Amino acid sequence: MQINGFSKLSKKDKINWLLSNYFEDEFQAEQILRQYWNNDAVLQELHDGFIENTISNFYLPYSIAPNFLIDDKLYAVPMVIEESSVVAAVSKAAKFWLDKGGFKTRILGTTKLGHIHIIYKGKTQDLIQFFRKIRKQIFEIITPLEKNMKKRGGGVKDINLIDNTNKISGYYQIAFKFETADAMGANFINTILEETAEFIQQKASEELPEKLEIVMSILSNYNPECVVRAEVSCPVEQLKTTFLSGMEYARKFVTAIQIAEQETYRAVTHNKGIMNGVDAVVLATGNDFRAIEAGAHAYAARGGAYSSLSHAKIEENRLVFWIEIPLALGTIGGLTSLHPLVKFSLQLLQNPSAEDLMRIVASIGLAQNFAAINSLITGGIQKGHMKMHLNNLLNLLQATPIEKQKAIDYFSDKTVNFSELKKILNRS
Ligand code: MEV
Repeated sequence: MQINGFSKLSKKDKINWLLSNYFEDEFQAEQILRQYWNNDAVLQELHDGFIENTISNFYLPYSIAPNFLIDDKLYAVPMVIEESSVVAAVSKAAKFWLDKGGFKTRILGTTKLGHIHIIYKGKTQDLIQFFRKIRKQIFEIITPLEKNMKKRGGGVKDINLIDNTNKISGYYQIAFKFETADAMGANFINTILEETAEFIQQKASEELPEKLEIVMSILSNYNPECVVRAEVSCPVEQLKTTFLSGMEYARKFVTAIQIAEQETYRAVTHNKGIMNGVDAVVLATGNDFRAIEAGAHAYAARGGAYSSLSHAKIEENRLVFWIEIPLALGTIGGLTSLHPLVKFSLQLLQNPSAEDLMRIVASIGLAQNFAAINSLITGGIQKGHMKMHLNNLLNLLQATPIEKQKAIDYFSDKTVNFSELKKILNRS
């Protein structure tokens, strides 16, 4: 069904249009949308305002993983995620490492990048000379734009011309390096790039013998210089299980990580598990999980082949397990001061700086990965998953406590199956 001017309709008219064109039971469909509206009109308006064309709210569970010891500080970490078992697994991992020194982190860099992409078909030497001449002026024109950011310790750190003509004929980049302090910095970066591009365009038309075309100006979500490392380690004896000695466990664990380092099929699933933890905290703190995802996967492929974001070794009878991940995060600006639950998350995390948040998020990613590998090399992951799956199915069937116990007992040694569940609970 095509429509012009949908965005201009009121919320009510948008819904009416949807109901009459896409739903048979209009009443029921409307009820579903309405039951997620917030009773507080001001709060609802705030949420409606985040994006365009909003007609309702979409809940995701907001959960807590307690007992995270990160750089000797204890955190209860907020996580927003729809997948069952993730919070349980990460909480178990946090508890496991709690009395083993917890998570130790190091910020490897906080530099963010952005580029003006240009095409210049004239002589490279002319462009280099032109850039040398205007470089100082670029710094001058961005000075007023940087003022506030500079007060917070950020700003433009470097600007370089990069010759990419081996990739595309006439293609160069003006590459910027930024520090953005506690802000993610997207608006700051894009404003500087666009203003500079306009200046360059103007100057180029006056001073270059050939036409310079500005193709686009945009930050990069690939930030290999904005990276944090998180690590856990313990004597291998502490890893002993019912069936494996500590050393056997540690060796199997390291082998599992080596497989993810060497083999793309496994690496993707392995890193997906890491991102289960990373994205959940990124969402809870109002950051952009798509940007973090895209950047993390590019980093995982920086060697030319997609590989694991985490690594492990046995050193002096200790298992050492670590992650290195680019995380361009903010704790001010964007949603952080707008969304009440994001504010709550940041307060819960004791008002972290962007660097603190990088440390926390990387630790959760590592914990998630530890929990996944631990399950995979011991009992498998289905047991935990099935428990949650059964719980969800029981809730769907509105099972009574007695029925729930009956189902748990029944499936204790069987794979959970919805039609079988319905049969034993006499549901049609
Ligand atoms: C499931 O969401 C994540 C895992 O597949 C991760 C992994 O295999 O490492 C369990």
